[in-house]
Amino acid sequence: MRHAWRIDDGRQTLVLTASNQRLPQVVYWGATLPADEDLETMHAAAIIDVTGGMLDENPDLSISPEATRSFPGQPGLIVRDTDGTPLLPKFCFESAEQNGTLELTYVDEGNGLTLVFHFACDHDTRIITCQTTLNATRPVHLHWLAAPVLPGPQQSDEMIDVSGRWCGEFQLSRTAWAPGMRYRENRTGRTGHEHFPGLIVPCRGATNTEGEVYAFHYGWSGGHKMIAEELQDGRRQIQWGHAARMETEAATQFKTAPLYIAYSDRGMNGCAVAFQRHLRDRIITWPKPDAPRPVHYNCWEAVYFDHKLHVLQDIADRAAALGAERFVLDDGWFGNRDDDTRSLSDWEVDPRKYPDGLTPLIQHVHKQGMTFGIWFEPEMINEDSDIHRAHPDWALGSEDQTLGRQQKALNMALPEVRDFLYSRMSAILRDNDIDYIKWDHNRVLPMPDAAQTRGSYALIDRLRTDFPHVEIETCASGGGRIDFGILQRTQRVWLSDSNDALERLRIQHDAALFLPLSVTGSHVGPRHCHTSGRTLDISFRAWVAAQRHMGFEMDPRELTEHETAVLTEVTSWWKHHRDWLQTADILRLDSADPAVIAEQQLARDKDRFVVFAGKAATSAQIAPRPLRLTALDPDATYRVRLINRDTAPTLSRGATALKDKALDLSGTYLMRSGLVLPWSFPERMWVLEGEKL
Ligand code: GLA
Repeated sequence: MRHAWRIDDGRQTLVLTASNQRLPQVVYWGATLPADEDLETMHAAAIIDVTGGMLDENPDLSISPEATRSFPGQPGLIVRDTDGTPLLPKFCFESAEQNGTLELTYVDEGNGLTLVFHFACDHDTRIITCQTTLNATRPVHLHWLAAPVLPGPQQSDEMIDVSGRWCGEFQLSRTAWAPGMRYRENRTGRTGHEHFPGLIVPCRGATNTEGEVYAFHYGWSGGHKMIAEELQDGRRQIQWGHAARMETEAATQFKTAPLYIAYSDRGMNGCAVAFQRHLRDRIITWPKPDAPRPVHYNCWEAVYFDHKLHVLQDIADRAAALGAERFVLDDGWFGNRDDDTRSLSDWEVDPRKYPDGLTPLIQHVHKQGMTFGIWFEPEMINEDSDIHRAHPDWALGSEDQTLGRQQKALNMALPEVRDFLYSRMSAILRDNDIDYIKWDHNRVLPMPDAAQTRGSYALIDRLRTDFPHVEIETCASGGGRIDFGILQRTQRVWLSDSNDALERLRIQHDAALFLPLSVTGSHVGPRHCHTSGRTLDISFRAWVAAQRHMGFEMDPRELTEHETAVLTEVTSWWKHHRDWLQTADILRLDSADPAVIAEQQLARDKDRFVVFAGKAATSAQIAPRPLRLTALDPDATYRVRLINRDTAPTLSRGATALKDKALDLSGTYLMRSGLVLPWSFPERMWVLEGEKL
């Protein structure tokens, strides 16, 4: 062995060792190793045997596996000269610097290429961030560049990655490890509903709350590629990068996005909490870090494109009375935008709908004590728009391309496009008292192109520099652009266009593997859900929204007295608790009943928690199974109260203790036996508060 480095964050250790001058491999990643562990011995101990039908020595599974070293799987770098000749790199050690972060430089002199690997760990959030940069002495064409390549755990039988669809984001798919590859590549040009760039690898027997788990997230909004490959010798590698061939120009430098990785010995929740905290406390920049997250009102499902000042003012009054603190004017305020066939990119207030501009509405909203937010879809253009008529060449893709929601994307790589958007958007922000943008992106790109994503990032960055008080919500037909790259520039996600609380309960639950409450928008939708056709009770709708960053999106004129009362009460509960909830950890519970989707939000000091047990379906068995809590102090006593026990249906006839009073129980009891909840209908939520005595 020649070189060895270890990275420690207090819960995990990652060890890299290298033979001679070669690229290093991750020979250990897992629970913290003793400080005096001998890395040289570890390097030797990790070498696997050779038998018939194998090379005389097994090629390294390095942080960028090289085809030239007989590596039999996917290489970490594929690059060509400008004339198209494939370059076959072979890197040698150049330098290493470890000083808080670890930076390793390897050079291939023959091909004029340098790889720089960067690792940073965070002792508080327990996320390791890693990134690869390729430098070339002359412009080269990049086909594929992997962020530092990690080994897949041998103790796992399957991996979980994330797909989804419009109104059905964050669906977890489990795939068994087998020889060959699980290859996911997103060529849509945006993060996409169908391709959230995340992977969870549970070791055998791991659950939400127990066991060893590894997790990965690639922080990039332009479409990623993931390879999880098992080699013939049984070793596994996990690679992440931008989708292949996304760089259309030859260049002398390419960089992957940051890859965020986490190891947990506390089940999937250990990784989930690491991502939640890292996103909230390290990635996002909050314009007002100490301000509580305001309750939102968004008018989309109330009025759609039919904007009438007096109606919106009436709605604003009612939203404020329910407890809203921010009013967001959605699509329909600009150009001739009477439906979704026209006017995108004509970012000027529609004088037919707003003869005196937005001021009368904004002032009205302010008078009600709410701040004002507005919808934009900057990257998009309709053919039926003044801007498309003037600059058809600003659109990305061919003239005969298939439209998406009747629209094209603008070419964000063009500085004149970004300047135009900046001037229109900044005029709206300068002329009006606006502190929030809902930034939408409703279609996939005609082809993937990294320059497009960089262009979007540049526009957002410029606007944020000049309007630092403005918060931005990332939306793409709901959750089509959610990743830590866009969230470096935004503060909220519109998780889904589904305001159906039943669907949302599941989507939120699975998204919590990566996203904390403070960024996850959740709105109380209309009684009859517009995207599912379901009719849901107000109490269920309100509590599901109260699980995350709460808001309303129904037409408040539809609310009955009872609905108004319930909604006002749940909103005030949320406001009362939000100070600790917005920094709490969301812990997914291992419900014994598949019909119950449950989570526990645990305060950072662990002294209090709230449990949401959502009944997503009718149970198979007749009585509820006990629900086990997690991450409590086993020896402490907790007082647990079912706060909405009054809503138990009359069909719940028994004498379950929680229906009567608060219970004082030990952490061990709560975690090992669990709580017996009253019987309830499906599409209902039990809410429990707990405090440590
Ligand atoms: C997208 C968003 C919606 C709404 C509409 C407006 O579908 O996801 O929330 O803003 O656009 O056109």
